[in-house]
Amino acid sequence: MLHTVNHPFNRIRRLPPVIPDEILASRLMRCGGYEVFDEVLNARWLKALRHEAVGQLPKAILSDVERSDGEEVRGGNPARRFFSAPGAAVQDAYYRSAWMLDFVRAVVGVPLTPTGMMGTYTYYRRHGDFLAVHRDIEACDVAVITCLFDNARDADVGGLMSFYPKRLTEPLSAIRRDAEHRRVSLRLHPRQTIVMYGGIVPHAILPTGAQQVRIVSVLCYRALTSNIA
Ligand SMILES: [Fe+2]
Repeated sequence: MLHTVNHPFNRIRRLPPVIPDEILASRLMRCGGYEVFDEVLNARWLKALRHEAVGQLPKAILSDVERSDGEEVRGGNPARRFFSAPGAAVQDAYYRSAWMLDFVRAVVGVPLTPTGMMGTYTYYRRHGDFLAVHRDIEACDVAVITCLFDNARDADVGGLMSFYPKRLTEPLSAIRRDAEHRRVSLRLHPRQTIVMYGGIVPHAILPTGAQQVRIVSVLCYRALTSNIA
């Protein structure tokens, strides 16, 4: 997930990331860098977010990048194909709410702040939509992703989220070259929310299956710690 509609092109860095001690010692990192929750949002919030996500679809922009650039740490321009649209009033109310910030801070275990940017909706709606292995942009240390819709069956592999919690300091190109090594995959089911160190833990979305549609809400938070370099 890139978490921006107009993805910024960052300078290319080839060194492995340096992760601050506060983050390495944090609650979420001790859980592997990500955690899935079943009931962060009640039915009313979920219905409103789904409605808003569908309503924003006409504003969605296609990201279609055939090959990843040479960025090795975070951000950059990873290969991908999906549509994304900016969030609107419902998502923003959820993003800015004190209860949500309290929840995310408690899960992560370090001080956090919203990035100042709007959240986004991402739509994987065509066969083979995907996102190659990456770490999120510098403004997005922690991502909070809620699945609003996914019609895949449990046995399908399309649209799975993949993580590399045991390959934190490897350059992105090394992980992409051997993408199945120490890969952990999971399906984020509708209603579930994942809180993840997206700027630290390399991750990807596997290509969606035929007739699969997957829609997620994406929020970003910045860690108020030493910078991840
Ligand atoms: Fe991401």
